[in-house]
Amino acid sequence: MTKTVFITGASSGIGKATAQLFAAKGWNVAATARSPESLQDLKLSDRVVLLQLDVTDSVTIDKAISQALRQFGNIDVLVNNAGYGLLGPFEFSTPSQIQRQFDTNLFGLFEVTRSLLPHFRQQHSGTIINLSSMGGQLSFPLGSLYHATKWAIEGFSESLQYELEPFGIRVKVIQPGSIRTGFYDRLDLPTETGIKEYDYAMKRLMQQAISASKNATLPNAVAKVIYRAAIDNSQRLRYPASAPILAIRKVLPDRLFFAMMRQISR
Ligand SMILES: NC(=O)c1ccc[n+]([C@@H]2O[C@H](COP(=O)([O-])OP(=O)(O)OC[C@H]3O[C@@H](n4cnc5c(N)ncnc54)[C@H](OP(=O)(O)O)[C@@H]3O)[C@@H](O)[C@H]2O)c1
Repeated sequence: MTKTVFITGASSGIGKATAQLFAAKGWNVAATARSPESLQDLKLSDRVVLLQLDVTDSVTIDKAISQALRQFGNIDVLVNNAGYGLLGPFEFSTPSQIQRQFDTNLFGLFEVTRSLLPHFRQQHSGTIINLSSMGGQLSFPLGSLYHATKWAIEGFSESLQYELEPFGIRVKVIQPGSIRTGFYDRLDLPTETGIKEYDYAMKRLMQQAISASKNATLPNAVAKVIYRAAIDNSQRLRYPASAPILAIRKVLPDRLFFAMMRQISR
């Protein structure tokens, strides 16, 4: 039977590249986005269905899953990709910004996963692929809330892998480094705080982020890693993608690693 992948946030960047790659590999693709019009250029064949799904709206989640199952009969891989970055001084992040960050990056991912699990459990197979980040195992200044969502995804996934093993369900975590996508244009950023230390640090961070994103890897490199994770029947959990700094994080003790990060971000 042809395998099916269900992807959130397929309108751009990593999600879109992933939809294109799985379609090219002959999979059925349920490509979802908040506005299905943004998916039109993915309509490559009858194997691709474009569905409306906002990860913060459970009605759209249930509807999109039912439509995908009606169309293809099965879903084998879920790619929880939708997300964006809230950056800036924690002190100046508003409760509504914090809520939206967690609703999208974390609670949305929980809800899509929870809604698909009964299907995976019944078919006694399935792979859940969660988009974390290199920022799910290390952190940069002024990213505390974005990192909090990605570190939470790491802990959630690590525990869930044991819980779902008896049902034949695998959990995988993708950890991209800097990738050239719409991510940097869509950042939720504070306006100036009027506090010179914060404003200076923010300016520095943005300069670094913009220059990193210009030289960054293209999203199809991450799509390839996601594909590799999807067909990997091993128990491996984490898949870094263009994130060499994670190897350094693994070997250095905290004291040395933090000193290095302070040096980089000064
Ligand atoms: N780019 C990087 O450097 C990088 C590095 C590490 C991890 N990541 C992670 O990779 C994932 C994909 O990001 P990207 O780089 O491909 O950025 P992107 O080009 O901005 O794509 C993000 C996608 O998420 C979707 N999205 C946002 N809010 C949503 C919601 N409420 N419901 C459904 N979809 C929603 C966007 O859809 P709309 O068109 O509707 O806004 C868009 O399709 C994110 O989880 C991000 O944290 C990115």
